[in-house]
Amino acid sequence: MIIETERLILRPFTENDAEDVYEYLKSPEVNCFACMKLSSLKEAVQEMKRRVGETEYYFAIILKESGKVIGEIEAYPESGEPHSDVNAVKDTFSPCWMLNAEYQGKGYAFEAAHAFFDYLFKEKGARRIYAYTEDYNLPSQHLCEKLGMRKEGLFKEFVSFVNNPDGTPRYENTYQYAILKKEWHDS
Ligand SMILES: CC(C)(COP(=O)(O)OP(=O)(O)OC[C@H]1O[C@@H](n2cnc3c(N)ncnc32)[C@H](O)[C@@H]1OP(=O)(O)O)[C@@H](O)C(=O)NCCC(=O)NCCS
Repeated sequence: MIIETERLILRPFTENDAEDVYEYLKSPEVNCFACMKLSSLKEAVQEMKRRVGETEYYFAIILKESGKVIGEIEAYPESGEPHSDVNAVKDTFSPCWMLNAEYQGKGYAFEAAHAFFDYLFKEKGARRIYAYTEDYNLPSQHLCEKLGMRKEGLFKEFVSFVNNPDGTPRYENTYQYAILKKEWHDS
């Protein structure tokens, strides 16, 4: 699947993307992506091999004018409620988004996420899209709000991605945002 916007192309990853991806994943900006850190270009190549074949829900964000991979966006179908029946309809998605810091503040994240949401709602059967974001991550909260997502709540000390210097888990406060298909202005 390829999604095109005015300035961007969203397409599946290829093995040739390793260098561009290494550029932003050698030092993930936020704790929630700490586990995605790549320590070498070799590791980036391995990671690209793992991503090849992910054609429906995991996209590289490409700048049309240069062909460079400037970030990524992904979300997989899940049932809305963690304890739901195994046969429950998987019509809920929770996106992760990340841009190379050099390309932030230019509206690319919004352009990519808007197109991705449109795709999920119109072509992949999404009924509800929700996003988790740390209480200190103002750019991500701003993006959720620009996409028309409602702030649904704050989960205090919800999750830990990294440890404190003394080895104890560092818990983070997490906002949940969401939007329903019937609320999507393009539906
Ligand atoms: C979260 C993240 C993807 C947001 O990216 P971003 O570049 O700040 O978001 P946008 O694409 O919406 O751009 C924002 C700003 O670009 C500016 N901009 C410049 N040119 C623009 C254009 N042509 N069109 C639109 N906006 C433009 C605007 O000032 C806009 O801010 P505004 O909405 O107040 O007008 C980015 O901060 C990131 O990758 N962070 C690290 C990873 C992360 O935290 N992921 C989320 C974990 S929960």
